[in-house]
Amino acid sequence: MDRPHPNPARALFVSVYATKLKELHDTPFRYRPIHELERMSERCLEAVEKSLAGDNSWLDRYIGHIVLQLGREGFRSWQLIKGFEVFHDTGRRLPHVFSDFNRVNDVLYWAIVRFSQLYEELQTVQGLSRMVESLTMPLDSKEQYTSNHSHAVQKIAEKIAKVLGIDVSLAALLHDVGKIHVPDRILTKRGPLDQDEWVILQQHPYHSFRIVYPINPEVASICLRHHERPDGRGYPLGETDVRLEANTIAAADTLHAICSKRPYHNYQRLDVAISAIRGNAGTQFLPEVVNALDRAYGDVAGLLSTFEPPRQTGEANHGSAYQPRETIN
Ligand SMILES: [Fe+2]
Ligand SMILES: [Fe+2]
Repeated sequence: MDRPHPNPARALFVSVYATKLKELHDTPFRYRPIHELERMSERCLEAVEKSLAGDNSWLDRYIGHIVLQLGREGFRSWQLIKGFEVFHDTGRRLPHVFSDFNRVNDVLYWAIVRFSQLYEELQTVQGLSRMVESLTMPLDSKEQYTSNHSHAVQKIAEKIAKVLGIDVSLAALLHDVGKIHVPDRILTKRGPLDQDEWVILQQHPYHSFRIVYPINPEVASICLRHHERPDGRGYPLGETDVRLEANTIAAADTLHAICSKRPYHNYQRLDVAISAIRGNAGTQFLPEVVNALDRAYGDVAGLLSTFEPPRQTGEANHGSAYQPRETIN
């Protein structure tokens, strides 16, 4: 309307994006009138276009608006991040709108990081747990091999960490948050990943690092290393000087992956998981972590019996199941 040169590709983008927002389940977008969503889509597109042209101030203001205004209206932060994901999907399906879609990815990534920073500033310390939840919730719904992988790994890791006298709680909760950037077709693929898919999946610790860094650099560093191994065969860094905190999360992650494979026998398979982990002491796991897991056996057994039985959707946990398949089974 107020744009000097109406562009059909652009108009199509705005109406598709607004419609997709309207169709988002479990978000307040559903209840907003379509003309409001179109206005929001228009502003978002305009802000992204300005960023592509080198001016981030529009997007910064847009993000400030959604954090303040929509946050006050009851939107949760994961729902707003979902809005950016829908923008991404819309752009991918309408290739004529952007000449270089890779640069749109970079801009959206910047927007999400900025959003997280702003959200934290505005919510202060009390809001941290809410933000953490907002970061892990989309992941838990995205990765379907379990209904609650992040929280389960956190609980198991806490039991092992207690024996070791360390704190891994937040890092364990956020370790896989970078999988938000891994396509669904890879996360939920049945059967082995091909070389290209595996390379993409191996980027997720980097993404976790970059997302968590603005919240807590120390925790981000642990997240980056949750797939490293003492024998140097881990990823993405291939370090041999493995951090105790990161390896504690690795053990909890592996244990949960093994126990998630057979929905009917969580509790009974704990022995199998622990002996598989024990068999990799010194190669995949630090001996002190394995000892701590042995000592936490009772606590972990109690925990597993309380977890919701995972949904059976094939071999979807490539993040950790791939590694055990190679080295444990
Ligand atoms: Fe994981
Ligand atoms: Fe992972």
